[in-house]
Amino acid sequence: MSNEIALTGIKPSGTPHIGNYLGMIKPALDLAKEFQALYFIADYHALTTGKDPDNLKRLTYDVAATWLALGLDPEKVILYRQSDIPEVMELTWILACFTSKGLLNRAHAYKAEVDENLSKGLSSDEGINSGLFFYPALMAADILLFDTNFVPVGLDQKQHIEISRDIAQAVNNNYGDVLVLPEAVIKQEVMTIPGLDGRKMSKSYDNVIPMFAESNKLRKRVMRIVTDSRRPEEPKDPETDNVFAIYRHFAEQEDIERMRQGYIQGGMAYSQIKSELYELLEERFAVPRQRYEELMQDWDYLDQVLLKGAEKARKTSVPKISQVRKAIGIE
Ligand code: TRP
Repeated sequence: MSNEIALTGIKPSGTPHIGNYLGMIKPALDLAKEFQALYFIADYHALTTGKDPDNLKRLTYDVAATWLALGLDPEKVILYRQSDIPEVMELTWILACFTSKGLLNRAHAYKAEVDENLSKGLSSDEGINSGLFFYPALMAADILLFDTNFVPVGLDQKQHIEISRDIAQAVNNNYGDVLVLPEAVIKQEVMTIPGLDGRKMSKSYDNVIPMFAESNKLRKRVMRIVTDSRRPEEPKDPETDNVFAIYRHFAEQEDIERMRQGYIQGGMAYSQIKSELYELLEERFAVPRQRYEELMQDWDYLDQVLLKGAEKARKTSVPKISQVRKAIGIE
């Protein structure tokens, strides 16, 4: 095992879905076999959009339960809540002083809100809180505080990792090599998991397949995936079909080939293809779903795991912040 660091965070703003699983959670669990892994719940990031305390709490446990249910071993991976690491906040401020405002102006999430305001004829910053504007600086602190080498993320987070590198570089230019420049790890082949309507699977489009939906609901969601209207006997195109695009990530290689031939030759109904996908998802997630449900009944246990994780994480973050404070001339 390498002593390089892999770190990533999930924002507790909705129940994780199979797009999150394929794009980030599974690659992160794989990386944890090779590197020292720190995975955390970015609860302060969620505060930029959600202001309901009960919801924030529940979704925070939801993310923790999801990681554990999918097999994260808390003895090997350090699993923690961002808000349990006070050094993150301290570093955020320090980094802010090295983050050009123009860089944050160009960050996608903020820029998208500005563009939406302008398209509605509103003033550019209408309804935008500064936390959202600062989001990338907080994220840089999450990453740089732990001398992170690799950050497994979905493609939508690529710019944030680049911003983190820029900020680290600015700090290093001034003080010498204080911070490690992180690298994004993005799975090319799972970049575009389509949702039910064919657009990228995303909770903001309400087109997701939740990972731990109970069987009936899961089946209903799968049956709702949009296809073209080709009849069972007609040949179909596996490369453009949304069901196949998901199926190929869960099936065995030989089944993928069999299915591909079935598409090309015709003779298979979309409903049949969807049934197979449903079976695969059921098989993959039935046991984790059970475990997830048990864990969601036991927040005390989740708290224990998270607090233990924070304690381990702070063995790195406390000396790191002290190193940074010295570098800037404060300690
Ligand atoms: N912004 C990430 C997302 O929305 C979550 C996140 C916060 C994160 N801090 C991070 C991811 C640090 C990787 C590293 O998905």
